[in-house]
Amino acid sequence: MGGTQHRLSIIGDVGVDLVLGPISGWPRIGTETVVERSELRAGGSAANAALAVSYLGGKSQLLSVVGNDEPGAWLAHELRPLQAALIPCSAPTTVTVGLIDSCGERTFFTTRGHLEALTYELLRPHIAPAPSANSIALLSGVFLTPALRASYPLLMRELHALGYRVALDTNWPPQDWSVALRAEVGGWISRCEHVLLNDLEVRSLADSEDLGAAIERLVPMLRQGATLVVKMGARGALAIQDGERCEQRAAAASIFDTIGAGDSFNAGYLLARLDGAGLADALAAGCTAATSIIARFPRRAIAAGELAGLRAHTATVLEEQA
Ligand SMILES: Nc1ncnc2c1ncn2[C@@H]1O[C@H](COP(=O)(O)OP(=O)(O)OP(=O)(O)O)[C@@H](O)[C@H]1O
Ligand SMILES: [Mg+2]
Repeated sequence: MGGTQHRLSIIGDVGVDLVLGPISGWPRIGTETVVERSELRAGGSAANAALAVSYLGGKSQLLSVVGNDEPGAWLAHELRPLQAALIPCSAPTTVTVGLIDSCGERTFFTTRGHLEALTYELLRPHIAPAPSANSIALLSGVFLTPALRASYPLLMRELHALGYRVALDTNWPPQDWSVALRAEVGGWISRCEHVLLNDLEVRSLADSEDLGAAIERLVPMLRQGATLVVKMGARGALAIQDGERCEQRAAAASIFDTIGAGDSFNAGYLLARLDGAGLADALAAGCTAATSIIARFPRRAIAAGELAGLRAHTATVLEEQA
C-alpha cells in the first residue's frame, strides 16, 4: 500500500465554507430566516477531496493558494494537519455560503477572492516529480481558478512529464455551457486518465439530454485506457473503461448536507485505484466513501483515519481476489 508517502496530489480550489440550513424555498428579499443547523469549515472542492482522503486514512498533497487575511489564516490552520502546500497571496480569501434546501438541493454564493490568484507559474515550483510510478494528480474545480484554467493544457502536459496520471473533476461552470466551453473541456478530457464528472455535467458537455447518448459521444474522446466516471447522486455512479461498463448503486442514507459528495467520491475512487483496484471495486469504493462522509454532520468532527475501515475493506476484497 505504498507506506506513508502520498501518491495523490490534489490541485485546485480551497476556501472557507459556511453551510446553513435547512431552508424550505427561497425567501423574499429583505426578510430574515432562522435555520436549525450550521457549520463553518474548510471547503472548496480540492480541500474537500483532501479532507476525504484523510478521513479514509490515506495521504495526499493538497496544492493551492490562501489569501492574506484572517479567513486565510484560519483556512491554513484548518488544513495544516493535511500538510498542504498553500501558497500565500495578497487577496481576500474566497468565501462560500451554502444554503441547503429541505428538498436536498443546495445553493451557493461564492466570492472570487484569492482563487483568482492561483496561476501555473505560482504552482509549478511546488509540483514535485511523481513519488511513484502510479501516482495520480487530481485537478479539481477549474472554473473557480480562471488563471490556472488558461494553463490547464500546459499543466496536464507537465504532470504527465513528471510521471503522474491525471484525474479531472471540473465541477459545474458558473458561466454555463457554450460551444467554446465544450471544446475547451473536450480538449482537457482527452488528456486525462480519469474523468470524474456528474450526470448533468456529462450531458451538458456532450450537449445531449440523454445520458447514454452523451456517454457515447464522450467515450471516443478519451485516451486509450482512460476511465469516464459519471456520478449520479443518490442513484450512485457508473463508469466506463476500454469498453467495460460498471454501475454501482449508492446505499440509502438520510443526508442533510451533500456538499462535497463528488469530492468524497473522488477520494475513495482514486485511493482504491492507487491500491490497485479495478473499475468495479474503485467505483464501489468511491460510492461508499461519498455516502459515508456526507452522512456525517458536522463534517469537521470526522477524525483523520476514522473511516479507514472502509478502505481496508476494499483492500481485503482485492487481496482475496488476487
Ligand atoms: N443522497 C445521497 N444518498 C446516498 N449517496 C449519495 C447521495 N448523494 C450523493 N451520494 C454519493 O455521492 C456520490 C457523488 O455525488 P454526486 O453524484 O452528487 O456528485 P457531484 O454532483 O459531483 O457532487 P458535488 O456537488 O459535490 O460536486 C454519488 O455517486 C453517491 O455515491
Ligand atoms: Mg462535482
